[in-house]
Parts: sequence; structure tokens; C-alpha cells
Amino acid sequence: MQTIQPQTKPSDCNSMIGCSEAMLDIFDQIGRVAATDATVLILGESGTGKELVARAIHDRSNRSEGPYSAINMAAVPKTLVESELFGHTKGSFTGAGTDRPGRFEACHGGTLFIDEIGDLELTSQAKLLRVLEDHRITPIGSNDGKQVDVRVLAATSRNLDQMIGDGSFREDLYYRLNVVALRIPPLRQRQGDIPLLARHFLEMSCWTNHRELLGPDAELWRFLQNYQWPGNVRQLRNCIESMVVLAKGPTLTIDDLPAMVRRAPDASRSFFEIPEGYTLADIERVVVGQTLRHFSGRRTEAAESLGISIRTLQRKLKRWETDDAGLNLSEGVYCASDRYAFATSG
Ligand SMILES: Nc1ncnc2c1ncn2[C@@H]1O[C@H](COP(=O)(O)OP(=O)(O)OP(=O)(O)O)[C@@H](O)[C@H]1O
Ligand SMILES: [Mg+2]
Repeated sequence: MQTIQPQTKPSDCNSMIGCSEAMLDIFDQIGRVAATDATVLILGESGTGKELVARAIHDRSNRSEGPYSAINMAAVPKTLVESELFGHTKGSFTGAGTDRPGRFEACHGGTLFIDEIGDLELTSQAKLLRVLEDHRITPIGSNDGKQVDVRVLAATSRNLDQMIGDGSFREDLYYRLNVVALRIPPLRQRQGDIPLLARHFLEMSCWTNHRELLGPDAELWRFLQNYQWPGNVRQLRNCIESMVVLAKGPTLTIDDLPAMVRRAPDASRSFFEIPEGYTLADIERVVVGQTLRHFSGRRTEAAESLGISIRTLQRKLKRWETDDAGLNLSEGVYCASDRYAFATSG
């Protein structure tokens, strides 16, 4: 196993890593939208890398020499949002001691990333829409509009369609922002990225913490790849950093996992490995067997969980019973047979 301690500092601390088809597609889209001034709406669960995507678009655009600023709508008090975005004049409200430019003005010639756009109140949404349409801002307390040349990127982890439905997000603003939508899938849907990301974070953490490690053992690798990562890439990164800092030996094992991850219900989820040469029919039997075992043989619940009718399930069981006596599905007990390799993580 290769020792993980880079001789030189891993260069791209903030580079985006990915080799799954989904991420290669995102990289391709970043390349294409970067060359334009289109507004981009970046969607994805928390920790999927929305901020990294915004930064990557700016860095690859012809505005890369211009300013870049990120503002998080969930972190700015509601009363200050408009002043923060559009600026204010001296005396326009209590505490406004001087004229102050807002983010739009500060980003003239560059890119403004508006994070958690779903947290913007309806009145501010209307004002933002006007700015996006007219490319003019009017600071609070001023009567004069100012022309601004700013590319806007926005992100949210909330469901904007649902918010439009319940009237908390303006449909017209949604369409204005959604000229291009980049949807980053959760990490559990692109498990192929996990080894690459894990290795990258290991190298980074070993470098910053001056540690020399052999890396994770096979069991831990398997765990990392099969865990569902509800906190996405951020959780994987934090998990690895914590393991590197607290490692007890030269090799990382399951025992080095942070307690939160080790004890999560996910850790005991079982999964199966599909040996080479298995047909779809073989896999179907494994899945049905495992589901029946999960429901202790209760066919109605198993059928419901599998999304098939009880009659279909019974038909399958009957057929397999005659086909293969070794697979005792009728009692809902999976008889370990070397034809099917199950592995349980954690
Ligand atoms: N593809 C990736 N390659 C390398 N690092 C990544 C990748 N995706 C995310 N990260 C890292 O994961 C962490 C979370 O990423 P980021 O802040 O961009 O997520 P986010 O979607 O904006 O999350 P939130 O919705 O909570 O703001 C960061 O440390 C980031 O560097
Ligand atoms: Mg973010």
C-alpha cells in the first residue's frame, strides 16, 4: 500500500475532484457556462460543492480578473439584506453613518454569488429581480440608480419548485435565475467519486497535519464507499480530517471512524457485492431474498418494499423454489450460498 504523505504540498486545495459521469458532466457544463454571462442556478444538497462550482465558473470566465464575492442569504439579518446587496446612503436608516456600496457595486466587472437564495424575503426578491432585469441598483436612501455590470450566480439547497407552490418564492425570479441550472447530485448517487475524493482529502490532511499514513485498510475503504454520506462531500472531508488527526496507528481502520459516522444507522446497512458474471435474474433473487430477510419473511411488506404485487412475489418465489432448493426464500431466510456474496459494513 502506498504511503500517504505528499512530498510537495498538494496544489489544488480548492480544486473540484470527480470522475463519475455525473461530475464529468458538471465539469463540462461549468466549462460551457463559464464562457457566457448567463445567470446560473446551482442546486444540490448541503455539502455537495455548490460554492466550489460558483468559484470554478468565475475562475474560468472572462471576468476572472474582476472581483468575486459570495453572500449567504441565510446568514444576513433580514433587515440588512437590501443594504448589503444594493448599498445605502449616509443617514438612510439608524446606524447608516456613511455611504456604503453594496455587493453589486463592489462586484462591478465581476461575479456575485448569492448563496441560499431561497432564504430571500419576497420584497427583496422583487428588488433583486428588477436589478437582474435592468442592471441598475438603487442604494437605500438614494434616488439615483447606478448601472452595474455583474454576473449573478445563485445557489440553494431548498426546493424552489415547492416554494413557488406555497407562494414563498417568486416564479418570475426563479425563471430569471434559472437560465442555466446546474444540479449537483448527492455523493450517495456518485459513489465512484468517493475513492478519489477520499484520497485527495487524505493527502491534504496528512500534509497539513504532518502525518505519514499507509491509508485506510480494505474494510475501511469498503465502508467509505458504501456509507450514504448524508452531509455529502463536506462530511467525507471532515470525517477523513478527523481520522488523520486522531489516527492511532499507521493504517486507518473502521475503529478510527468518528463515532457519529460509525454509529449512524447507515453503518449497519447491509449491501451486497455482485460477483462477476451474474445475470440480472441472479441479482433479482439476491435482492428479493435480502428484502424478505429484512421483513422476517413477511411477504406483503416485502412485496410493498420491492414495489411489486404480492402475487408477483409469490410467482417468483414459486419459480425459484423449484429452480433452486438451496435458496430457502419461502421462510424469508436467506441460506448463505457461495453463489451470492453478501457483505455487511460496520
Ligand atoms: N467535488 C469536490 N472536490 C473537492 N472538494 C469538494 C468537492 N465538493 C465539495 N467539496 C468540499 O466539500 C466542502 C463543502 O463544499 P461547498 O461549501 O462548496 O458545499 P455547498 O454545496 O456550498 O454546501 P452548503 O449548501 O452547506 O453551503 C468544501 O470543503 C469543499 O471544498
Ligand atoms: Mg455553500
